[in-house]
Amino acid sequence: MNSEQWRAVDDYLNDLVIGPDEALDAAVASVAAQGLPPIAVPPTHGKLLNLISRIHGARRVLEIGTLAGYSTIWLGRALPADGELITLEADEKHARIASANIGRAGLADRVEVRVGLALDTLPTLTGPFDLFFIDADKQHNPEYFEWALRLSRPGSVIIVDNVVRGGGVVDAASTDPAIVGTRRLGALIAGEPRVSATMVQTVSGKSYDGFCLAVVN
Ligand code: SAH
Ligand code: DHB
Ligand code: MG
Repeated sequence: MNSEQWRAVDDYLNDLVIGPDEALDAAVASVAAQGLPPIAVPPTHGKLLNLISRIHGARRVLEIGTLAGYSTIWLGRALPADGELITLEADEKHARIASANIGRAGLADRVEVRVGLALDTLPTLTGPFDLFFIDADKQHNPEYFEWALRLSRPGSVIIVDNVVRGGGVVDAASTDPAIVGTRRLGALIAGEPRVSATMVQTVSGKSYDGFCLAVVN
C-alpha cells in the first residue's frame, strides 16, 4: 500500500461517482491558477459533505474556511432554494476567488462569503445552523467547535476536517500548533456530553488524514 495506489484508486473512484463538472472543475483550476494552497477536500469528500447535508435536510449551513469555495459549492448544492450557507474566510484574495467560483456555480443567491478571522466573525452570527463544516486553521479547532455548539440546536451536525494530519495526531509531544489544536479538539469531544461523535481515517490522492462527524444530542 502506498500513496501512488491511493491516488490511482482515488482517480478511479472520482471518475465513477463524480466525473466532469464545470463549476467544480473551474474551482479546482482556480486554486492552481491563482497560487492558492492545494488543500480543498478531495472530490469524494466534497460529495460526502453534499450527501450528508441532503440526508440531514440541512437548510442553514455554516462553513469555517472557504479557500476557493470548492467544499462550499458541494454544500451549497445540497441546499433547498430558500436555504442559506455562510462561509467564513480570513483571506480577502481567497474570498474574492471563492465568490467568483460560487457565482459560476449558480449559488450566489444562497451562499454568503464573510471575510475576517473566524473568531471575529463567529460572534456576529445568529443560530441555529443545521450543519457545520469546520476546515480553517487547525489550532483553533476547539474554539470553532465550541462556537458550533453555541450556534447549534439538538440534531445539528458538526463535521471537522483534518483530524489525523498524516498520523501526526498520535504525537502527544508535538509542538506543531495544528497537532496541538487537533489533540485539544479530541479531548474536548471525548469529554463533551452534548455531542455524539466519531472520527474516521481517510486516504486520498492528496493525503492521509481524517474527519470528525458529530451530532448534537
Ligand atoms: N474548505 C475548503 C478548504 C479550506 S482551506 C475546501 O475544502 O474547499 C482553509 C482556509 O481557511 C484557507 O482559505 C484559509 O485562508 C482560511 N483560514 C485560515 N485561518 C482562518 C481564520 N482564522 N479565520 C477564517 N479563515 C481562516
Ligand atoms: C491543511 C488544511 C486543510 O484544510 C487540509 O485539508 C489539508 C491541509 C493545512 O493547513 O495544512
Ligand atoms: Mg481541510
